[in-house]
Amino acid sequence: MARYRHLFFVCNNQREVGSKKGCCATKGSVEVLDRMKHWVHQEGLRGRVRVVESGCLNYCAKGVTVLALSGEAREEVWYTGVSPEISETLLISHVTEEKIYSPEEEGGK
Ligand code: FES
Repeated sequence: MARYRHLFFVCNNQREVGSKKGCCATKGSVEVLDRMKHWVHQEGLRGRVRVVESGCLNYCAKGVTVLALSGEAREEVWYTGVSPEISETLLISHVTEEKIYSPEEEGGK
């Protein structure tokens, strides 16, 4: 039995300034991590949901990348271009509503 219902790996990789690949650390990953962890604590979900920092998830050009593994089957959902502003909405959709977050359904946020 899985310890957590949802695991979120948030890329917080940092590359040298001027790197062609870019990195999530310069695109707001620290704030995404902070906001996601804060939401989990605020909602009292620490026993069910875990947000952890990861290294590069290889979607560097697409903005902050988050890999969600959910359920007993550890279904993978990849989110790219995650901004601090949408991180809470993403969690509400993914965790509370158990739907894959789609910016289009949120009015293109
Ligand atoms: S630096 Fe974040 S996916 Fe590569």
